[in-house]
Amino acid sequence: MTGTDSFPTAAQVLVVGSGIAGLTAALRASRTAEVLLVTKGALADGATACAQGGIAGAVGPEDSPALHARDTMEAGAGLCEAEAVRLLCEEGPAAIDSLIAHGVAFDRERSGAAPGHPPYALGLEGAHGRARILHAGGDATGGEIQRALLRAVVQASRTLDGPGRLLVRERTALADLLLRSGRVLGGELLGDDGRRTRVRAGATVLATGGAGQLFAHTTNPAVATGDGIAAAWRAGAELEDLEFYQFHPTALAGPESFLISEAVRGEGAVLRDERGRRFLPAVDPRAELAPRDVVARAVAEVMRTQSGRPVLLDATAIGRSRLRERFPSIDAVLRRQGIDWSRTSVPVTPAAHYWMGGIRTALDGATTLPGLFAAGECARTGVHGANRLASNSLLEGAVFGARAGEAAAAAARHDDDSGDVPRPPRSDPSGGTAFTRGELQDLMWSRAGLLRTGSVLEAAARELADRRAAAPDSRDPFTALEDRSLLDLARLLVDRARARTVSVGAHHRLDTPAVPSLEDHAC
Ligand code: SIN
Repeated sequence: MTGTDSFPTAAQVLVVGSGIAGLTAALRASRTAEVLLVTKGALADGATACAQGGIAGAVGPEDSPALHARDTMEAGAGLCEAEAVRLLCEEGPAAIDSLIAHGVAFDRERSGAAPGHPPYALGLEGAHGRARILHAGGDATGGEIQRALLRAVVQASRTLDGPGRLLVRERTALADLLLRSGRVLGGELLGDDGRRTRVRAGATVLATGGAGQLFAHTTNPAVATGDGIAAAWRAGAELEDLEFYQFHPTALAGPESFLISEAVRGEGAVLRDERGRRFLPAVDPRAELAPRDVVARAVAEVMRTQSGRPVLLDATAIGRSRLRERFPSIDAVLRRQGIDWSRTSVPVTPAAHYWMGGIRTALDGATTLPGLFAAGECARTGVHGANRLASNSLLEGAVFGARAGEAAAAAARHDDDSGDVPRPPRSDPSGGTAFTRGELQDLMWSRAGLLRTGSVLEAAARELADRRAAAPDSRDPFTALEDRSLLDLARLLVDRARARTVSVGAHHRLDTPAVPSLEDHAC
């Protein structure tokens, strides 16, 4: 690797992305390999830092990895891969221990733990048969995990020579992967000054997160534009399950989407239509704690019957002091908006939250391209199937980030390619009418969102075929790259949604049978 002042042009392992999966992969790989970690924004800009609910793990006395696996498989609507789920749930408690060892301060039981019970407070969320969600700072779990892992990365980056060396570069995006004879040999990186650098790497780990920015309403941060998934696709990696995009049922309605954690329903909040009637007990016996796809769809259906106006999240029974103590971040945001949720209901709407699909990986994070690994939301490990179980995403990042980091370091040791740095594949962004980001997001929200039909998807596909990304803006070199990623991924998602003609999990077709009727939902 070159010196720390100039931009490195080689590394044994290149890691792209700085959420829980990328930081874990980089830390693990740096035990035995020289690692370059790059991230498009600042280190803490990704979705991990926004995660409220927590991290699921079978750590309670009445819980077990088998029970956690059963809930995960059931939420996934039969499309999870059993071996991946088994690994997730069995390795989960050790991955949580490792976060604790890095200094993550999970919230503890207020009155001390019962004998045989871990010291940590365990919350309940939708479709979990046990209280098994660890949280930190009440509703700031992702922020606390990010803080602790970043501190570990900074410490590791102070090690100067040899294996264990970890360099970090912020404001650096992946433009494309470098390929020779079907093998990935690093990436072409783009700095926010517009400079491109080809970095040669024996193994590359993508941990670039999801693409919530595909949709007009999302809980994701602005950086979530799916650049890693799109680059992997352009290089020829197999993608899978792209039709399964999870919509969170309860984002604050209004111009600024803000997540209202599922844990609020775990504490007893209920959803009501605009006339104040609960509608979920008629949809599913688990009511507000049914799997996320069921709740989000029911919310969308009720909103259709009330001309698109939001439904109401009623948390008043929880009480002011508990709301403030358990959900301090949400409480602060609502108070800034003038909403006292201990006295009044909160208007909520679904929003794009998590992509179950992504780059197909094996259990060690290996993709279908030699030299390329993926972990976290951009990867499709098979643990989520058609609908992710709440709070399994941070867990997946921790478990499979470590696996991918380990495997990438091992692969880099066997890298014997000594040729020149290859050129990246080029895609042709020309032709068609340029779209604005907002137009694309509106199209995806209205035509490929929660409730889909074949004819509307066909129309969306035709419209997308005739579009191209806007020309590069010299003031912001990332925008054109992001728009290209979003357009590639929008086309792929719509194509996969057209091809799956039955409803399953988060992919719901109104033109196939068995749509639950919500006409008589009053109770
Ligand atoms: C939430 O807090 O509701 C989100 C947690 C998750 O997406 O798993």
